[in-house]
Amino acid sequence: MSILDMIRSRRSVRSYKPDFLTDKQIKAILEAGMMAPSAHNHQPWNFIVITNRDAINGLSASVQGYLLEKVSGENAIADFGSEERVERVKKRLELKEDTVFYGAPCVVLVVVEKDSAYAPIDCGMAAENMCLYAREQGIASCMIGYACHAAREELISVGMKESQELMFGMVFGYSDQMDGEVDRDFNKIQKWLK
Ligand SMILES: Cc1cc2nc3c(=O)[nH]c(=O)nc-3n(C[C@H](O)[C@H](O)[C@H](O)COP(=O)(O)O)c2cc1C
Repeated sequence: MSILDMIRSRRSVRSYKPDFLTDKQIKAILEAGMMAPSAHNHQPWNFIVITNRDAINGLSASVQGYLLEKVSGENAIADFGSEERVERVKKRLELKEDTVFYGAPCVVLVVVEKDSAYAPIDCGMAAENMCLYAREQGIASCMIGYACHAAREELISVGMKESQELMFGMVFGYSDQMDGEVDRDFNKIQKWLK
């Protein structure tokens, strides 16, 4: 697969088979992330890998608890951006399943030392490397920004240090839904001075 084919065909996948990835596959995905460039070559990323179902469910429940409180709150529309989004989140919460990590067998939390300059950009670059490499290997992925709503003590309990903060979560696994629709606006060149 050419790099452009990988970029074009990578989708955020929200349905996973329970089949585990091997440790070797997971390590290779993480190493693809660690190959990313970073400001001053700081490599601020640290990875917490979770393949334990109970631990994943614990995190998921923590995020769902937070979301339930927010969608029922006075500022729900402002918090979620629109009434449609509030309704979508409510519907997902009613499903009573892992609607945060989509039942994926591998969750990766990307954590950094608090207030690291450029860490969001650096970690974002690592994340895309990981998603693209996974895609090339026939492995589905999705970024999980919602993981940041997990209670801090829950994140500490799975291995985050007191000095750290969570950038985002990611999920990896096999899926038969890797060919979702692409929704892009390519009209984003604001100005081209020649
Ligand atoms: C920083 C970031 C956080 C995201 N968080 C979530 C999330 O919590 N749950 C989810 O289902 N998708 C999440 N996504 C995936 C986006 O919704 C998705 O990339 C976007 O809709 C475009 O779809 P595509 O990735 O299939 O092209 C996130 C993406 C990014 C870059």
